[in-house]
Amino acid sequence: MNRAKMIGNKVYLRPIELSDVDNGWHEWINDELATGGLVGNYPVTKGELIQYYEKNALPPNSVMFAICDVQSDEYVGNCRLGNINWIDRNCTYGRLIGNPNYRNKGVGTEVLELMFRYGFHSLGLERIYSGAVSCNIASIKNNEKFGMKVEGTQKKTTFRNGTYYDTVMLAMLREEFDALYGPSKNVFEK
Ligand SMILES: CC(C)(COP(=O)(O)OP(=O)(O)OC[C@H]1O[C@@H](n2cnc3c(N)ncnc32)[C@H](O)[C@@H]1OP(=O)(O)O)[C@@H](O)C(=O)NCCC(=O)NCCS
Repeated sequence: MNRAKMIGNKVYLRPIELSDVDNGWHEWINDELATGGLVGNYPVTKGELIQYYEKNALPPNSVMFAICDVQSDEYVGNCRLGNINWIDRNCTYGRLIGNPNYRNKGVGTEVLELMFRYGFHSLGLERIYSGAVSCNIASIKNNEKFGMKVEGTQKKTTFRNGTYYDTVMLAMLREEFDALYGPSKNVFEK
């Protein structure tokens, strides 16, 4: 495991690198099937992705990880804690299982546990939230199964292929995470 920070049974999280842009990230971000349920409508150039990395992937306001297979080290997706508010102790999150062979195999769920544990216990955050486009059933169901709670719906926020969709707002508090997943598991680098 190469530069592993958080280690699970199926995948580990390592810091994302600029070289990951050419390693899959640029391809996934332009794949309608992978990102059709995410916010953003335009094709993304490599230059724009590099700018995004520099502005939105690095501390202190964001922390972004590459998701890698524990067996093969293959890079299969990204996840990110963003908009970190160090006064109110909250942040948003996002994730993308870019390689379709790794979807619906428990990877997205394991990533949530690793990333939330990092946010709650390593960064000391109190609340993590996210907005899912209402057509992204996989994401909403996955978030709810993990234990996130729907807090409300913003109406007609997103226009996709001729239709307006809502944004479903979900959140989890640290105490809710601890009640479900326990406070003391060691998934940090040895
Ligand atoms: C959404 C996403 C992260 C889920 O990760 P995953 O690894 O595929 O999901 P897991 O295998 O960990 O979890 C499976 C659970 O997720 C939900 N789920 C996953 N895919 C689903 C689908 N196509 N339809 C309905 N529910 C789905 C279900 O609750 C499922 O549990 P079940 O089998 O008991 O019904 C992944 O599909 C993905 O990256 N999609 C593209 C990008 C994206 O939408 N990101 C989310 C923005 S936060």
